[in-house]
Amino acid sequence: MADVLDESIHREIDRYLLNLLPARDPVLARMEKLGLERGFPFIGPLVGQLLQLLTRAAGAKRVLELGSGFGYSAMHIARALPEDGLVVCTDGDSKNALAAEEFFREAGMLSKLEFHVGDALTEMDKTSGLFDVMLMDLDKESYPEGFQRAWPRLRVGGLFIADNLLWHGRVLTGNDEPSTRGVREFTRLIYHTPGAHTSIFPLRDGVSVTLKTA
Ligand SMILES: C[S@@+](CC[C@H](N)C(=O)[O-])C[C@H]1O[C@@H](n2cnc3c(N)ncnc32)[C@H](O)[C@@H]1O
Repeated sequence: MADVLDESIHREIDRYLLNLLPARDPVLARMEKLGLERGFPFIGPLVGQLLQLLTRAAGAKRVLELGSGFGYSAMHIARALPEDGLVVCTDGDSKNALAAEEFFREAGMLSKLEFHVGDALTEMDKTSGLFDVMLMDLDKESYPEGFQRAWPRLRVGGLFIADNLLWHGRVLTGNDEPSTRGVREFTRLIYHTPGAHTSIFPLRDGVSVTLKTA
């Protein structure tokens, strides 16, 4: 079976960091097992821990995910939300929604989950209000449009987080696939959009965190 480090570009460092983490609770552990067995790309425990930290630090109550899979990243976020907090998930595959709802039910957190099936940005447009935190983990060619459409829905002081900024090292090469171009253009946008203050953390496959300052 593959291990969670397969997405990493600094495997030895990530293995070291992974060994520092506290044990996951049974529901998260089962989600990790499922993801690994199916070879499903999910953020893994290192980025999960960071998501919990950022959600808490932002004092978030409403979080939007663009590309939720079977709810692993959302489960980390939900754990950091207050009792009346909400994570709005989106995914194109209804089987992922069913799996996520089942895991959230088991964790006793179903009241914190709202799962929309369909194109993530179309589903976002059906929601109203601002979000405190956003996590984007869509197909990488969609990253520039995803950011440009979602950014106005983030409150000032909120955090826009995205995964795979290092894209398994492809951004370091001349790779010109649409997905790599998507990651590069998104990277340019988060450093050059007015009111966007960005850092990229080289954790696992690279995580960007952008604070909306204005
Ligand atoms: C990398 S996985 C998300 C994993 C999740 N963030 C986690 O770590 O648990 C990407 C997911 O986004 C979904 N997806 C990709 N592009 C999408 C789009 N435009 N609209 C809706 N879902 C999309 C895929 O179906 C897939 O389940």
